[in-house]
Amino acid sequence: MEKITAVRGFKDIMPGESEKWQYIETVARDIFASFGFQEIRVPILEKTDLFRRGIGETTDIIEKEMYTFTDRGDESLSLRPEATASVIRAYIEHSLHQTEPVSKLFTIGPMFRRERPQKGRFRQFHQINAEVLGTEDPAIDAELMLLVVHFLKSVEVEEIELQINTLGCPKCRPQFRARIQEYLLEKEPELCGDCARRLRTNPLRIFDCKVDSCRKAIESAPELLDDMCPECRGHFEKVKEYIGIFDIPFKVNPKMVRGLDYYTRTAFEVVSKSLGSQNAVAGGGRYDNLVRELGGPDVPGIGFAIGLERLASLAPKDPRELVGRPGLFIAALGDVARFWAFTLCNYFRMLGIRTELSHYEKSLKSQMKRSDKMGSRFTLILGDKEVAEKKAGLRDMESGVQEEISLENFDRIAEIIFNKMGEGKIV
Ligand code: HAM
Repeated sequence: MEKITAVRGFKDIMPGESEKWQYIETVARDIFASFGFQEIRVPILEKTDLFRRGIGETTDIIEKEMYTFTDRGDESLSLRPEATASVIRAYIEHSLHQTEPVSKLFTIGPMFRRERPQKGRFRQFHQINAEVLGTEDPAIDAELMLLVVHFLKSVEVEEIELQINTLGCPKCRPQFRARIQEYLLEKEPELCGDCARRLRTNPLRIFDCKVDSCRKAIESAPELLDDMCPECRGHFEKVKEYIGIFDIPFKVNPKMVRGLDYYTRTAFEVVSKSLGSQNAVAGGGRYDNLVRELGGPDVPGIGFAIGLERLASLAPKDPRELVGRPGLFIAALGDVARFWAFTLCNYFRMLGIRTELSHYEKSLKSQMKRSDKMGSRFTLILGDKEVAEKKAGLRDMESGVQEEISLENFDRIAEIIFNKMGEGKIV
């Protein structure tokens, strides 16, 4: 029969790799909690209009990358291409602003974009998202950048660069937009088809185009920093001042506009040379008008997302070190012994000791070999003869010392294992 493979751009995260993901997620949960974030879990399917309105009609995501379908009735639904719009929808729907002046929310999960798959780019990928709603204090902008950098360092990712920019506000951006449009109109013949079209609808998007000729066209384009209003300028200066307190190196990249239209003022990315052409491991920024544009109150916001596939490829931790080892392996020979092995094995598991037995190897020797290979701390050896006498051998796999032990006292066995492996759960 023909085998069925996974959908192109959709990837399995297999045992041996998933341990690293668990480790990254555990560190994230701890660190995000210490920065005052609470978890929110939002659906992966939303009404298409949410993303259209949130992300912007003329972005790549909306123009060509969404997985959209018409539900059985006539409602257009889309798999989420990002989480920010969903988090804000939930924030508005549950009137969080009425109970908390400032909400700090994080969410971890899959996103879907029908991009061309390549190294570091998938059609289903995962993000850790953080959003702060309710304040435009520049200290929060810096706090989020500190959080990303601190988290990446905590999972031992080195050689990253924080790039920041400001995208202005509805007061100063229109002037800048007009200046860019004027500048690019002269370069229209050099632009790709998409950008030539966007030149009239959304010229800032051209900064985000990856086509060489478009990149070249914007090389000496005017910069927003020159058009910025005093409020945006002041905000940006304060953000930089706050980042400076923690000595986090950063570079101002005036060409960074980000791929989504909702940003105002601060935008930032964390890039790494080790990632190749898809070099951003995290990106985010301020979106002071988004909550209102999605039908909510006039509440400012800022957030970021870290790409988990890219992060997992950068984090050096060896998943094999994270797998853990059994506290006990039970080697059993003969039918009665196997019956005992089953009982004991599950009893110890319920006490919290990771216990293994072989359903495959038959001889005692091959079972001992398996125990050794798994790195078990102890092996309990049960033969029918020993079992008939209610005895077993407990071998300390590190010292090689084997002691005879009564099978009538399960708890004694557990006590020995716990003593040797320290308090708490053995995994
Ligand atoms: P984004 O820059 O589109 O921002 O995505 C954030 C991160 O997700 C990227 O830096 C990258 O690491 C990862 N990523 C994006 N697309 C892919 C892909 N196709 N394959 C693998 N990884 C990918 C956002 O999504 C915003 N919602 C971030 C944000 C939150 N802004 C404010 N709050």
